[in-house]
Amino acid sequence: MKLTVNLGKDSYNIYIERGILSTAGDFIRKVFNGQKIMIISDDNVFPLYGNTLLDCLGEYDCHTLVLPHGEPTKNFQTLPSVYSALLDARLTRSDLVIALGGGVIGDLAGFAAASYLRGVKLVQVPTSLLAQVDSSVGGKVAMDLPEGKNLVGAFYHPKLVLIDPDVLDTLPQHFIADGMGEVIKYGCIKDAELFDSLCSHDSFESLKPDLTDVIARCVDIKRAVVEADQYDKGERMLLNFGHTLAHTIEQHYNYERESHGVAVGIGMYQITKIAEKKGLSAPGCAEKIRKALDIYGLPCQCGLPLSTLTEAVTLDKKNLDGHLNVVLLKEIGKSYTYPTDVSFFNGDNNI
Ligand SMILES: NC(=O)c1ccc[n+]([C@@H]2O[C@H](COP(=O)([O-])OP(=O)(O)OC[C@H]3O[C@@H](n4cnc5c(N)ncnc54)[C@H](O)[C@@H]3O)[C@@H](O)[C@H]2O)c1
Repeated sequence: MKLTVNLGKDSYNIYIERGILSTAGDFIRKVFNGQKIMIISDDNVFPLYGNTLLDCLGEYDCHTLVLPHGEPTKNFQTLPSVYSALLDARLTRSDLVIALGGGVIGDLAGFAAASYLRGVKLVQVPTSLLAQVDSSVGGKVAMDLPEGKNLVGAFYHPKLVLIDPDVLDTLPQHFIADGMGEVIKYGCIKDAELFDSLCSHDSFESLKPDLTDVIARCVDIKRAVVEADQYDKGERMLLNFGHTLAHTIEQHYNYERESHGVAVGIGMYQITKIAEKKGLSAPGCAEKIRKALDIYGLPCQCGLPLSTLTEAVTLDKKNLDGHLNVVLLKEIGKSYTYPTDVSFFNGDNNI
């Protein structure tokens, strides 16, 4: 299946197909006629899929950089060693960087490609569910600073994205659930049919035969939102449904307890429960979200007093002027932004 992100001279194709990794060379040849390629990956993904990719790039001069897996690798301190590897391989501006991995590798390799020699070509080969449905599309690349996540970054579009759903067979269950948080989010904000189809299964295993279509649907929603708002000034904000509470939950536990997708799930359910009480979401929405989360092994609460989280929302740099835009659902599949302030979350219950 082929989707095109239409962004004028920055347009690119996304191919979603089982087994596409072993024919990646055919697609890469169409967007890259240089000599040298640097494949950046991590130490979980490269041993599993590195050779499959290398085997179909036989005619190129391929180099590899395999980094430790996990978020700490996205730290800004990693960058000098990445630039050194690119320099050691003598990559020039007409060469290519391929990101083979999850969102950490996609963001890091993307940022390195955006900044090395003021920009070299980038191809994204996302291997986690989250990276396939979210981070590999949209052009946001970033690194973490000690002060916070994603504080240094750029908008830098790849020349091509290759999505192989088969690689998810080796993705640990915990990261599958994490990605499903984002998949459910797409259904909530834009696509009631997708949401209903997710709810018609009883587990991820039973969803698997439909996975290519589900990923394609999510990517297509992200494509449309990105085309409408490339630089994140309006429509793209809808992608943040569930994220206001999610970020404060993740921060509260120092990113060590709830993973992002889990926190987004809790955030989507809890904000919709509040919105329903205020008459801002159709009755029954929160319960539908709870059921969907449950099917895919995601919780809908974390036991924290809401007051602890409202304090964190108040202190968040983005909300310092007191205004807060939250994303709400009119009903499943229809989202909108609602300008409010932190009192929106007032309450004495645990969430
Ligand atoms: N750029 C964006 O628009 C955007 C959007 C959302 C998230 N992100 C970023 O994405 C990152 C999270 O991404 P993630 O959840 O993919 O994390 P990740 O890259 O750490 O991958 C999760 C884990 O799965 C392993 N893995 C990946 N694919 C595998 C496979 N096929 N088989 C076996 N193991 C595999 C990785 O080695 C890692 O241990 C965060 O840094 C976040 O900020 C970026």
